[in-house]
Amino acid sequence: MTPDQTGPDLAGQRIVVTGAGRGLGLAIARRLGQAKATVVVAEVDAERGKAALDVLAGEGLDVSFTQVDVGDPVSVEEAALNVLANGKVDGVVNNAALADAVGGKLFWEIAVSEWDRLMTVNARGLWLVSRAFAPHMLARRRGRIVNLASDAALYGSPRLAHYIASKGAVMALTRAMARDLGPSGVTVNAVAPGLTVTESTSAVPAERHELYRQMRALPRDQRPEDVVGIVAFLLGGEAGYLTGQTIVVDGGFVFN
Ligand SMILES: NC(=O)c1ccc[n+]([C@@H]2O[C@H](COP(=O)([O-])OP(=O)(O)OC[C@H]3O[C@@H](n4cnc5c(N)ncnc54)[C@H](O)[C@@H]3O)[C@@H](O)[C@H]2O)c1
Repeated sequence: MTPDQTGPDLAGQRIVVTGAGRGLGLAIARRLGQAKATVVVAEVDAERGKAALDVLAGEGLDVSFTQVDVGDPVSVEEAALNVLANGKVDGVVNNAALADAVGGKLFWEIAVSEWDRLMTVNARGLWLVSRAFAPHMLARRRGRIVNLASDAALYGSPRLAHYIASKGAVMALTRAMARDLGPSGVTVNAVAPGLTVTESTSAVPAERHELYRQMRALPRDQRPEDVVGIVAFLLGGEAGYLTGQTIVVDGGFVFN
């Protein structure tokens, strides 16, 4: 079989997925586990994280759980120490974010506290987690970081300014971190999904879902399964010369 028939070789890789308790993070964790990676479910909601762990373990996948609040530097450092005490880390998927029912306000209506809350988790959190694992990756001269951005930051979705700003920061950080880690062979890329049918988008108005359906080059609903293979590819052996990029996976809603 040629490599593109077998898919990315992730067997034996140990990969941390933040926010893997549900939604896209859980789907990514499952996809990586199915590819025989060892997956660390890193989640702020312990109940949700452990439930995800039970489900994935029940499917025969090699998973463990660590609690982390990616927005809290102390929590991130502690979690990284715990994870690294139990083995190497080959990849980090920065998926955790506040994405549930965050929209609805015009930019001048967003409270300062709400702006800060989103930026703290979605932008600073991604930097904190990457920062915590960077020394390990630098020492090994190998590693992969995959960040979850959003096509909303490219489209400029209305009534979502703070979220969009945080996802713009994710794309910019992806480039900055790729430059800083590149000399050690560590790659950093982002995946920007479109509006995906997950728990977090159930509150998005039906008209917005319909707009996306109509305006995509591939006119149908987007599902987590449409995204997970691209994340796996970016973690795999054939993506080693790809870095600093944002791959838009949205069925052709925006063209990057
Ligand atoms: N669903 C979509 O349509 C969509 C589209 C584009 C991008 N994204 C991005 O994909 C990622 C996953 O989105 P989702 O729809 O699955 O969201 P979700 O809300 O279903 O899941 C996010 C998970 O992250 C966890 N989390 C939240 N704050 C955390 C923190 N401080 N520390 C650790 N974990 C935390 C939550 O508990 C939850 O389990 C996010 O980065 C989101 O911005 C989602």
